Amino acid sequence: MSLRTRISPLPQIPRARARSRIPIERIPQPRENRMAATWRLAKPARIAAALRTAQSRNGGGWFVAGASGDVGQKESVTRTIAGREVVFWRNTTGGLVAGPGACPHLGALLDKCPVIDGTLYCRWHGLALTQNGDPTWSPYRAYDDGVLLWVGLPTEGEEATDRPALPARPPLPESVSAVITKPGICEPEDVIANRLDPWHGSWFHPYAFSHLVVDDDASDDQVLVVDVTFRLSRTWGVPVRAEFTCPDRRTIVMHITEGEGAGSVVETHATPLGLGADSLPRTMVTEATIAYSERPGFQVARWLSPLVRPGIRQTARKLWVDDLAYAERRYELRQRGEFPG
Ligand code: FES
Ligand SMILES: [Fe+2]
Repeated sequence: MSLRTRISPLPQIPRARARSRIPIERIPQPRENRMAATWRLAKPARIAAALRTAQSRNGGGWFVAGASGDVGQKESVTRTIAGREVVFWRNTTGGLVAGPGACPHLGALLDKCPVIDGTLYCRWHGLALTQNGDPTWSPYRAYDDGVLLWVGLPTEGEEATDRPALPARPPLPESVSAVITKPGICEPEDVIANRLDPWHGSWFHPYAFSHLVVDDDASDDQVLVVDVTFRLSRTWGVPVRAEFTCPDRRTIVMHITEGEGAGSVVETHATPLGLGADSLPRTMVTEATIAYSERPGFQVARWLSPLVRPGIRQTARKLWVDDLAYAERRYELRQRGEFPG
């Protein structure tokens, strides 16, 4: 008898139904007293082991800095990442340029500086910078993957790589993508640990998930395989199978592998920003949802993507209000030396 049948007293959603032609099913949401408790399954040691495996991966010094659309052709943008000011702009072919965010002349923050033909002009005295750098200013590695912006910073304990470790994605021209960002008072590991505990899904986010079961036979420290119903309402839901993996130490990815939207991916990236005025760490969660479906109706949804995107963002934000509360609580307990695990 497998763990999932032994522990869960409620009837499970048969896997075959996840492949039916109509994705939406009548799956009434159970009340809490009819739901299976998951705390026995969500073992602190198991989550900690999966987190250690994730943290052993090389980040390559790459950090997600925002959405591709955040940096245009005409003006620079600055961000603080891992305690360092970083400036971003675009070269003549639209490629991303990144480098130290302080002007080498008198230290102006290189934010909102005019960019003409790929050259940035400092707003204070007009010093010109290009992607080639000069003896006073050296660019960082930079990469625009079509959805997200990345910067490669020299990072202790990480071997620099040419490109970030990107997870498999559906074809972007046939997908709808949306990006949200939300800062929290915690460290990147708290964000990753939250997602390495899928067992909280039905309990903590009943408006979004139900009937969540981790398939222990298919899961290990490298991958968590989950059968779950995405809630559309208290009565209707969409059952899917999903896999969670960590391609680098600051990223956790959910791939939908069966059911409606198979091939879709949700990438959660945790970027350390630095310390806030209260001396506590700030971490930016950047979540990219790349929704894909082979269903003919989905192409209509794709054409309507300016209307669909706000809905995707709203759902992701709502989840991250709760999940950041979880991550911040985990950080607080760790600081107090009271985290059980
Ligand atoms: S501070 Fe940038 S040109 Fe003077
Ligand atoms: Fe969650």
